[in-house]
Amino acid sequence: MSDVKTYPVKTEFQSQALIDNKTYQTMYQASIDNPEQFWAEQAEKLIHWDQKWQSVMDVDYREAKISWFNGAKLNVCYNCVDRHLENNADKTAIIWEGDDPEISESITYRELHEKVCRFANLLKARGVKKGDRVCIYMPMIPEVGYAMLACARIGAVHSVVFGGFSPESLKSRILDSDCKVVITADEGLRGGKKVPLKDNTDTALKHCPDVHTVIVVKYTHAKINWTPERDVDYQQQAATLSSECPVEIMDAEDPLFILYTSGSTGKPKGVLHTCGGYILYAAITHKYVFDHHDNDVYWCTADAGWITGHSYIFYGPLANGATTLVFEGVPTYPDAGRFWQVIDKHKVNTFYTAPTAIRALMGQGEQFVKQASRSSLRLLGTVGEPINPEAWEWYYHTVGDERCPIVDTWWQTETGGILLTPLPGATDLKPGSATRPFFGIKPALMDADGNELEGEASGALVMSQSWPGQMRTVYGDHQRFIDTYFSQYKGYYFSGDGARRDADGYYWITGRMDDVLNVSGHRLGTAEIESALVLHEDVAEAAVVGYPHDIKGQGVYAYVTLMSGQSPSDELKQTLTKLVSQEIGAIAKPDVIQWAPGLPKTRSGKIMRRILRKIASNELDNLGDTSTLADPSVVDDLIENRANR
Ligand code: WTA
Repeated sequence: MSDVKTYPVKTEFQSQALIDNKTYQTMYQASIDNPEQFWAEQAEKLIHWDQKWQSVMDVDYREAKISWFNGAKLNVCYNCVDRHLENNADKTAIIWEGDDPEISESITYRELHEKVCRFANLLKARGVKKGDRVCIYMPMIPEVGYAMLACARIGAVHSVVFGGFSPESLKSRILDSDCKVVITADEGLRGGKKVPLKDNTDTALKHCPDVHTVIVVKYTHAKINWTPERDVDYQQQAATLSSECPVEIMDAEDPLFILYTSGSTGKPKGVLHTCGGYILYAAITHKYVFDHHDNDVYWCTADAGWITGHSYIFYGPLANGATTLVFEGVPTYPDAGRFWQVIDKHKVNTFYTAPTAIRALMGQGEQFVKQASRSSLRLLGTVGEPINPEAWEWYYHTVGDERCPIVDTWWQTETGGILLTPLPGATDLKPGSATRPFFGIKPALMDADGNELEGEASGALVMSQSWPGQMRTVYGDHQRFIDTYFSQYKGYYFSGDGARRDADGYYWITGRMDDVLNVSGHRLGTAEIESALVLHEDVAEAAVVGYPHDIKGQGVYAYVTLMSGQSPSDELKQTLTKLVSQEIGAIAKPDVIQWAPGLPKTRSGKIMRRILRKIASNELDNLGDTSTLADPSVVDDLIENRANR
C-alpha cells in the first residue's frame, strides 16, 4: 500500500547492530534452502550440548510428528545458569523491580546458581523426579524464575499458571497435567493490591487429592492457613539444603514445560515444549530480534504466566547470559510514569511490552513520559496483539524519541518464540506490520479452498516448514494437536490467525479467524466464558464474542438468554460477572452483558456468531444474509437493545 509510512533502518543503529539487511537476506535464504545445516550451525554456536544429535529435524506435518536434535543431550538450566559462571559469575542475571517503587534487587549469575540449586534440592527432597509435573502459581518475584529453572535442572516439567487465574482455573490445570507439587507464595502484589495466592491454592487443592506438597515462598508475610504435612516453608527449608545440585542430563525431546492456553473450543490446552529445540529457538530469537549486546539491560514486561514471560523474561535472555529485568508491578502504579521511571532507574536499553499498555499510557498524556529521560533506551518491542499505527507512532516518537526501532513481534504460545518480526538493524519498519519472517520460518497464506496464495494477498496464516521452538503436542491429547493445527491445511501448521502480505512481502496480522479473543493481549476462549455463564441456574444459554475496545484491543461481549420465568436485573449482571471471575479470573470478565430473549441460530441450531459480532461492534449496515436463520426476528430485538452504540 503506497500510503503506508515506512521508517528506514537508521544508520546509527545499523552500525552497531548484529545483522544488517544483506546479512538477513543471506542468512534467511540459507535457513530456508538448507534448514538442517542452518540449525545445526546455530545449535553449535548458541547452546551447550552434552551429546550431539544424530539428526537435526524429523518432521511430518501430516502426522503432526515433530522432533528436533534427536539423540542429543543437554540441560536447559545448565545453559541458562551454570555455563555463564566461568566468565560472568558476577554479572547481574536478574534485576527485580518490586510493585513498590522503593524495592528492587540485583541477582548475579553466581547467586542465581545458588538459589536455583537450593530450590532444586528442595524439590528433590519432596520426591520430585525427572518427568514429574510441577505447578507454579506465583507473583512476579525472582523466586518464580528460580522455581522454573529448578524444575529444568532436575528434569521436572513445570506448568506455570498465571497468578491472576482463579482457584477453579488453577485446579483444572493441576488435574489435567497431574501435578503433585505446587509452588506458590503467601501473597502477590499488583498495583498496591494483594493477591491471595496461598488461599487460592488451598481452595483449588480441595479437589486435587494427589497434591502432596505445596512449597510456599513467604513474601508479604501475611497470615495464611497452614497444612503441616503438606505445606513447606521455602525460605526455611531451602536454607538448610546444599547450594550445589547436579543437573539432570536430558534428551533434546524430553518435555521442558507445559503451558495452558485457550483455544476456540473446550478447555484450555496444555501446550508442550521440549528442551533442545525450545531453548535454541528462545536464545536465537532473543539474540537477533533484540539485537542483544553483552552489557544490555533488557526488560520484558510480561508475566511469567504467559509464554512471553517464559521465552523472553527467563529462558531466552538467560541462555544468552543477559541481564533481564523482572517487574512485579503494573504500568499505572503508583502513576502512569512507572515504566519510564524504571527505565531510568535501571538504565534499560531494550524494552518489550504489549500494545494494550501503550494505548493505556498514551491516554494519560505525554507528561508522564517526558518526566523521565529514557536516554538509555535503544530498542523497543511489542507483542501479543496487533498494534494500531496510532499507538505505534506514539511509541516511536514520544517514548523512543525517534531514536529507537520498534520490533513488532508476532508469535504464539504454540510457536515457543517469535516467528514474524523486524530485525532492528535490517528491516525498514511499517507501523502496524510484523514485517518479515525470522530465520527458518516459511509463512504462507491460504485461501478458503486450501490453496497457497502468491504475492499480495490475504488469507489464513500458516507455516510450511517446522522450526525448533514449535510445540510438540497437546499434553495428554495428541489428537487435539492434530485436529487444531494440522487438519485444516494438509502439510501446514495453521496458526488460527489471518494475515495480509503486501507488495514488499511484509505481513500484516488481521487477527484471529477462530473463536479466540485477545483481550489486553490475553488469550481467552469464548467457549470458556460461555461455560462459566451457563453455570448459573437462571441462565439458559450464552454466546460470547469480541468487539473493538480502545484500550484492551478487544472487549468481551456476552449475550445471555435466561431461563423462562427469570427476569433480567443489574444485580444478576453483577452476579454473572463475578461468576466468570471466579471460574476463570478477572481478565475474562464480560465488559458488556446483553439480555437476549433468543440467539440467532441456523435451522440446524448453530449460533450465527458472525451476526452477534456485528451487533456487538455496532456494524449494522452489513449483517449479511439472515434468511437462513430459524427465527430472523430475534436479530431485530438484539439490534434494538444493543449496548455498544
Ligand atoms: C496474537 C503471545 C498481531 C495473535 C506471544 C496470536 C499478535 C495470539 C501479535 C497468540 C502481533 C501475538 N501482532 N497479533 N505482534 N503477537 N498476536 O499464545 O492473534 O498468548 O495468535 O502468545 O496473539 O497469543 P499467545
